[in-house]
Amino acid sequence: MTIRVLSPDVVSKIAAGEVIERPASVVKELIENSLDSGASEIAVEARGGGVELIRVSDNGSGIPASELELAFRRHATSKIGALDDLEKVSSLGFRGEALPSIAAVAEVEVLTQSSSDEVGTYVSLKQGEVVSREGRARPRGTTVTVNRLFRYFPARLKFLKSVSTESSHISHLLSQYALAFPEVRFRLVFGGRTSFRTTGSGDLREVAGQVYGPESVRSMLEVERKDAQVGVRGLASSPALARSNRNSLSFFVNRRWVRSPLLARATEEAYRGLLMEGRHPIAVINLSLPAGELDVNIHPAKAQVKFSQEQAVFAAVRRAVEEALARTPIARPRAAPFTPVSGQWQSPRMVMDTEPVFVVSRLPAMELPLLRVVGQVANTYIIAEGPDGLYLIDQHAAHERILYDRILAQWAQKEVEVQGLLQPITLELTPGEEETLKAGREVLASFGFAIEPFGDRSYLIRSIPALMAGANVVEMVGALLDDLAVKEGPAAWEEKIAHSLSCHGSIRAGQQMSNDEMRELIKQLEQTKQPRTCPHGRPTMMHLSSHQLEKEFGRTG
Ligand SMILES: Nc1ncnc2c1ncn2[C@@H]1O[C@H](COP(=O)(O)OP(=O)(O)OP(=O)(O)O)[C@@H](O)[C@H]1O
Ligand SMILES: [Mg+2]
Repeated sequence: MTIRVLSPDVVSKIAAGEVIERPASVVKELIENSLDSGASEIAVEARGGGVELIRVSDNGSGIPASELELAFRRHATSKIGALDDLEKVSSLGFRGEALPSIAAVAEVEVLTQSSSDEVGTYVSLKQGEVVSREGRARPRGTTVTVNRLFRYFPARLKFLKSVSTESSHISHLLSQYALAFPEVRFRLVFGGRTSFRTTGSGDLREVAGQVYGPESVRSMLEVERKDAQVGVRGLASSPALARSNRNSLSFFVNRRWVRSPLLARATEEAYRGLLMEGRHPIAVINLSLPAGELDVNIHPAKAQVKFSQEQAVFAAVRRAVEEALARTPIARPRAAPFTPVSGQWQSPRMVMDTEPVFVVSRLPAMELPLLRVVGQVANTYIIAEGPDGLYLIDQHAAHERILYDRILAQWAQKEVEVQGLLQPITLELTPGEEETLKAGREVLASFGFAIEPFGDRSYLIRSIPALMAGANVVEMVGALLDDLAVKEGPAAWEEKIAHSLSCHGSIRAGQQMSNDEMRELIKQLEQTKQPRTCPHGRPTMMHLSSHQLEKEFGRTG
């Protein structure tokens, strides 16, 4: 091996790869530049999921003609001058890296007019070099057009997802910046069709209504708290409104959109005991703190920040959300029908804590012996007796397993039973949900969902799977679209759909069941192939064998 210094071309492409991961990264950098330039109107257009074309136009300061080439030089920025500036940077950009990175992986055109020039300037770049330049008229501001992203990077192109997935990343991103800057008018156009727009009125609630739907936002609570260092403002959902993933948690630090597990935990802590397991709130949280209290330079795409006082920030956010929740009547009693067993069931739990008396059977394919129902504990677990001792069955997990198997079996055999709705149900979707629906419409149809467009992000649901009859359709489809948008978890759509439906449609913990219902549930569980685990892999039951019972009671020797 010989050590060599890489050519500048290779270096720039490697560096670009870190900043520009996918089309949405280009949109992010361009929007940030527009915001930094003081724009009050930003229009984003994308075609082919952003791979064919991305165009961002603003009415900001424009780039002086004399500096246009410089803007595409690596480490050329108007935003900081010295290292000290980094500690007090208030602009979103500061590295002078975004434009050269984009130009390294795509063909770029810029048309800009700054107030210091008589006429606007147009340049086009290929392989990072300016190939043409001319004077052209434009009102003050800048339009950057990015064509054929990753054309010469087949590896990256291959890694990109479908057009609708890439588009949904762009929609999500745009909705985040719209939430961060309610005073800026945003417009998003996909292939000629406006998908999202805000008015720039400055009203956060109005933008949140655009993103999450007016219904949801009506019940959202104002968050507002200020202490010596940290200001927290925004909106948080009431406990009645929840989602099945964390996509609806937005955090902005000094108006920079950040992904922060710390802030997500702080927010969710405030909801402890108020939401069912696996449900997450909707929240838009703006933090303001002195620039010196955070490091914005820790992530290639500037999507994370580091707080110098993490604990203080955590506490401030948690308290701010708690205070907002305390102002609602629902939260005050902390009604907790879904919290674990308590009171009279304390003693068996303590036994389990000290010594593992109950051995969780994890033998996946093992059949279940015939069981006799003895009763229900805490409206959550079924006690049953079998040939070899005692079984405690989690009613929700067991039902989930039954539904999951049935949904997938019907689907695989192409024998899905469909329930037509006498009255079609109208559904209003967020831009992100709409993209997910578009991407998944065919698969959803194969599961029995007939969903038709009804104009303006409204859809009509005409049928659902018969197995889901009786479910709250709007909630079910909302949860389904949430679940389909999640990137982790099972990759195949059909599995995700079966997961989501079985979770949503199954009997809850805390629900009383009659003896007949329990017997039926166990009978059906016995017929599944993996009765001992739910589709998430958690146990559906615990088994205490006769031998263990005898041992515990000192009957054996
Ligand atoms: N839409 C725009 N309006 C006005 N000036 C712009 C615009 N886009 C870019 N510029 C100018 O071009 C320079 C380079 O932009 P670029 O995005 O590459 O770097 P940056 O924003 O300074 O830092 P970062 O790499 O962190 O984004 C900016 O500093 C700014 O002066
Ligand atoms: Mg920038």
